[in-house]
Amino acid sequence: MERLALFGGEPVRKKPLPTISDKSGRNIGEEELRLLREVIVSGSLFRYSGRMVSTFEEEFAEFLGVKHAVASTSGTAALHVATGAIGLGPGADVITTPITDMGTMIAILGQNAIPIFADLDPYTYNLNPEDVERRITDKTKAIIAVHLFGLPCDMDPLREIAEERGIYLIEDCAQAYLAEYKGRLVGTIGDVGCFSMQQSKHMFTGDGGITVTNDDELARKARFFMDKGWDRTVKGARMYHMLGFNYRMTELQGAVARAQLRKVRWVVERRRAVADALTKEISDIEGVTPPTVPKGCKHSYWLYPIRIDASEFKAELSEIAEA
Ligand SMILES: Cc1ncc(COP(=O)(O)O)c(C=O)c1O
Repeated sequence: MERLALFGGEPVRKKPLPTISDKSGRNIGEEELRLLREVIVSGSLFRYSGRMVSTFEEEFAEFLGVKHAVASTSGTAALHVATGAIGLGPGADVITTPITDMGTMIAILGQNAIPIFADLDPYTYNLNPEDVERRITDKTKAIIAVHLFGLPCDMDPLREIAEERGIYLIEDCAQAYLAEYKGRLVGTIGDVGCFSMQQSKHMFTGDGGITVTNDDELARKARFFMDKGWDRTVKGARMYHMLGFNYRMTELQGAVARAQLRKVRWVVERRRAVADALTKEISDIEGVTPPTVPKGCKHSYWLYPIRIDASEFKAELSEIAEA
């Protein structure tokens, strides 16, 4: 312990930490296999031939307490389904955050609209509602609030701004399963919420996504947009109402998603317990700031961001990270 392992000392850990990239750090196994087997045995891998994806949608909607859930192929697709459903198009602006995954941008740029970046709070790394309001113009059609690393944005003022200005509020919850803002789950506060099930997420299907809303009309459009614009409620000749994409989740993903949904509460609880323990351990170290969690918020710790004042350590940030 005298000398850092980086400089030849005895390492504290000899075995690598578990990783989200394989079984060492992921809770996956028999439950997924059982449902996957059902799908394979049925021979129906397409969502509109089987019941796995539609059942997952019902279960996810119930899990969040929302009316509608529309599954898709990725978190990027789930966000694109949201921007497609609200009718985002050329000439419109969307106010969002400069620190996020490219998927948030693709959902805007994919509709030929323009992302406008608002400032972030320097400690939560989430949207500053006052700056969002300053950037609203006649061209603004929506705000996309990204709950970064699993920490909810300040949703009350964002909701108020969106309502006052008559624009949509979309929540990017890719990193924030079961995160809470003043007792409400993220994804249920804005007009639409979007989740990712990519390998690294709290619940995962390799790739996958889901869009949720309480608005019947947005849900109808979301379903068309995910399925080439096709209205499957019309029997006989195919009816296409709008331009959509093929973002249909397969029954195989649906099977894994259903099994994962039963585990996600445990995953989030475990992460919270580990994060709380870590915060307790490092809070007194000069130059180290653990994640900031504003009052009334519950973090879901997709990541555990630590803020470092490198000058306290007389080292470069890259050296501290390596150590
Ligand atoms: C905040 C955020 N938005 C969108 C996405 C896009 O999701 P996906 O990779 O499933 O397309 C991600 C994925 O990492 C994300 O973290």
